[in-house]
Order: sequence, then structure tokens, then C-alpha cells
Amino acid sequence: MKIVVTGGLGFIGSHVVVELQQKGFEVVIIDNLSNADKNVFNGISEITGITPLFEEMDLRDKASVIDFFSRHTDVDGVIHFAASKAVGESVENPLLYYENNLNTLVYVLQELQKKDTANFIFSSSCTVYGQADQMPITENAPVKPAESPYGNTKQIGEEIIQDVCRVTPNLNAIALRYFNPIGSHESSLIGELPIGTPQNLVPLITQTATGQREQLSVYGDDYPTPDGTAIRDYIHVVDLAKAHVVALQKLLKREMSSNYDFFNIGTGKGSSVLEVVNAFEKVTGEKLNYKIVARRPGDVVEAYANTTKAKEVLGWQTELTLEDALASAWKWEQNIRGY
Ligand code: WQD
Repeated sequence: MKIVVTGGLGFIGSHVVVELQQKGFEVVIIDNLSNADKNVFNGISEITGITPLFEEMDLRDKASVIDFFSRHTDVDGVIHFAASKAVGESVENPLLYYENNLNTLVYVLQELQKKDTANFIFSSSCTVYGQADQMPITENAPVKPAESPYGNTKQIGEEIIQDVCRVTPNLNAIALRYFNPIGSHESSLIGELPIGTPQNLVPLITQTATGQREQLSVYGDDYPTPDGTAIRDYIHVVDLAKAHVVALQKLLKREMSSNYDFFNIGTGKGSSVLEVVNAFEKVTGEKLNYKIVARRPGDVVEAYANTTKAKEVLGWQTELTLEDALASAWKWEQNIRGY
């Protein structure tokens, strides 16, 4: 079975490529290297002992997408990660996000629509829920007006896929709504490699622990939560990667009740910022220098998943803990920084 992974050299994409290869799938990676580097490719090959096919390509170039699928007529599935994902950047540069996240999706779906049968996994996000009214968040929670163009591209992306599936019975698709992916593969050969200043909490924690950053700013401790800091559902990226393989296998075996569905992919457990900081200190023995500062605009108070649907329909649930993820993130940081 040949699976195309767009954005396959990215943080989540690379971990999915490893899991796919280890399950015996032939993988073709498409990546434009805008937010990844070729070392990731070597890391994947070293972990699995299998060199994936790789095509450097920008999916915004419609002709390239058409050419690719005319050369690879035997594609059994596509897992689509290629997109920009920085919330703040999307506010500054919305058209970059609408072009890069939506045009590319349309071009790929246009090629899949031509096939006798096609299987498609879409990288979505819990961002679509905004601040949900009830915790844990189920898939029935209303999609709220997006707080950023980035979040809007995930909402629109899901709607595009749903509309196409409605008129394309041969296209089978699943959207996976990730909560907060963290950590890295146990080998430390692949992991989160933020280019420039990271936005996300865990790389900022590990860069503070190596001394690259002076101090971690904790954005607000005046939230209505037990310790006042915001709560998220931090999922180990390897568990997240495995969810993609399980979802793909469901599509390939035609085991879904409809040709479009979507799932929350999280641990089902909420952790506050300070709980993550404390867990990091406990797991690594490192003392973290942090200070409480003002809230970050746009942050929601809490978001953690109800994982019943993924468990009952996909037969998937997380196996790794927050501590496992933080330990792997620390090992990765030390590895890439030669710390
Ligand atoms: C987590 C918590 C911050 C940095 C974002 C995207 C979401 C998804 C995951 C792509 C929050 C706090 C953070 C820091 C802090 N990305 N924090 N100090 O905002 O939940 O989600 O990444 O799909 O779409 O929105 O993740 O890691 O930025 O923040 O206190 O230096 O850590 O306030 O409570 P977030 P995050």
C-alpha cells in the first residue's frame, strides 16, 4: 500500500511516516521544506531502516500537484499535514494562510476525486472548538467562530472535505482534531524542531532548561482553574501518530459507517501550565526558571478531549503519559543542542 504524506518532514508528519513504515506501508513524502529540514529525512530512515520516497514540492503549485498524481497513479491514501500552523503569524498574514492551507487542500482533493477510490486523512485541530462550553470536549461541541485565520483554515478545511465527500462516494475521509501534541520519538532522531522562536509551551520549557532562554513566561495565573493557569490536553506525538495509522486502516478496510467523519485526538486529561512545569521538573530533575506574566491574548481557559468516539469507533486511545512526553522532549532538546 502506497501512502502519500504531505508535510511529511514536519513534527507530526515525520512521526506518522515512521509509524506507517513500521506497519509495512510504502511512503512518499511531499514537503516544500518551508518548516522542516532534510535531517528529519535521515532521522526517519535511521529509525525504520527504510528510506521513504521524497519529492520536494510546493502544493500551492497546482500543476505540480496534477503532475505528481499523474506519475503516482497507485496511491492508496493521502495524509495531509502540509500547512502553516502559527496562530500569531496567521493574524499578521492571513492570505499566506488561506492560500497555503486551503488552495493546497483543494488541489489535492481535485486529484483524489478523479480516482476510482481514495482515502484521505486531514490534520485538523481542537482550535475549531474555541473555548468550548463543556469539558471534556466531545465531537458534538459546536464549532465556534475561529479566533485566528489559522483556526479558520482548519474549520473551512473540514467543511471543504465534507462537501466534497458528499458528492464523491469514492472519497473516504477522516479529520483528526489534535489537542496539544508534544514530545518526540524515543530515539531522539526526530522531534519538534521549531524554526526561530517557538510559540508552543513545551519547546519553550526545554529551551529554558538548556539555558537557551533565560526564563519561561507563564501566561496568566488568574484563570478560573485550580491553580489559576490555563489547562490543555497534552498528547504524546507518538500516540498521535499511531492514531493516524489506525484511522487510515479503518478507511482502507472500508470499516467506516460514512465516507466522512472526524475525531478528537487527545489524552482525555487536562493539565495546567504549572502542572506541566512541575511534571517537567520532576521527570528531568531540572529546576525551571519561570515567572507569571499577563495572559496571552486569544488563549482559551481550558481545552481537553472527550476521547470516547476515537476509542469506540477507531479502537484507539493513548498509551503514553505526560511524563513520558516531557522526558522525550527533554532528551530530544539535549540531543539537538548537544547539551
Ligand atoms: C499551551 C498553554 C499558553 C507558551 C496552539 C495552537 C493550536 C495547536 C497547538 C496547531 C497555553 C501557555 C505557552 C509560553 C505559556 N497548534 N504558554 N507560556 O495555544 O494551546 O495551542 O498549539 O494546531 O492550534 O493554538 O498551545 O503550547 O501555545 O500553549 O504559559 O511561553 O501554555 O498560554 O495556556 P495552544 P501553546
